Amino acid sequence: MKIDEIRKLLEEDLKNIHNLKDLNELRIKYLGKKGLITELNSEIKNIPNEEKKNFGQQVNSIRLLFQENYDNLKNKLEEAELNSKLASEAIDISLPSSRIPIGSPNILEKLIEEVEDVFMSMGYDVVDGPEIEEDKYNFEMLNIPKGHPARDAQDTFYLESEEILLRSQTSPVQVRTMLKGKGEVPIRVICPGKTYRRDDDDATHSHQFMQIEGLLVDKDISLSDLKGTIDVVIKKLFGKDIETRFRPSYYQFTEPSVEVDISCFNCRGKGCNICKNTGWITVAGAGIVHPNVLRMSGYDPDIWSGFAFGFGAERMAMLKYDINDLRVFYNTDLREVKIFDRKEFESND
Ligand code: DAH
Repeated sequence: MKIDEIRKLLEEDLKNIHNLKDLNELRIKYLGKKGLITELNSEIKNIPNEEKKNFGQQVNSIRLLFQENYDNLKNKLEEAELNSKLASEAIDISLPSSRIPIGSPNILEKLIEEVEDVFMSMGYDVVDGPEIEEDKYNFEMLNIPKGHPARDAQDTFYLESEEILLRSQTSPVQVRTMLKGKGEVPIRVICPGKTYRRDDDDATHSHQFMQIEGLLVDKDISLSDLKGTIDVVIKKLFGKDIETRFRPSYYQFTEPSVEVDISCFNCRGKGCNICKNTGWITVAGAGIVHPNVLRMSGYDPDIWSGFAFGFGAERMAMLKYDINDLRVFYNTDLREVKIFDRKEFESND
């Protein structure tokens, strides 16, 4: 075959290369052992001397033509092959993912944390006590002996014997803290925790609820210390313009005892359904620690004095987040928790 014909054939063949396999066959056809270009090389010896140079140049140029096209096509085809491989193996990220629902902090826990923060900033420790409690701590050492009528209002669940019960209040932690303190002062603790009572559940009652207990023992403690402390906490939680007032009350472990009211943050004292038209809302019981309680726990009441208080955690959360049914705290419905989250969000604006 003449060089010109080979060149033409090569140009034609180059147009029909579609993949690497075609390209390889092309290489064998032209540069293989019996390839068309290879054979041109072996023809050189038959060419008359004066034409050798010219012939050699033409062979070279056709070889160059082949090589350039071959390299180009090889690059292109390899790239195309890689791309199609990548495309076929690609992960389709446009598919909607399966949704993982995000949890929400329990609204009660949140409120308790806020209260803890305020008290800790005033030097209080947060302590814990058992929910399964002894009659001794839950009642007797709080000045509520066996047979005392005050026990009726705190009927609870008993285990094993009448001496072991689910605590009806967090106040036994006062006793435990003082016994542990062994006369050391000052004592400044709060104890948020679960409490239980034999109550039928409705919008304002629950067999399980939470209290935030507080105890301070030091020298010369008076009601004004208690009032000042509670006032700081209430203002932090409900707003600077919220007032605190004490009403005389009765608890067996405090003397004097008070109910802590706060001015209604909804109507600002004018009267509304939240405050039952009184302008005030009760949030805690409190008082000056009874001398009997101090004495039974190893603190001489002639030297030491203290105050104590117990907030109802649900009640505070209900007020703060405008919740009108206590049961929502315990039915674990995430949709309801989310609503409160949003309310808080709005109220923070
Ligand atoms: N433990 C009381 C109750 O459950 C609340 C209470 C009142 C706690 C006065 C106190 C206190 O510490 O001083 O009703």
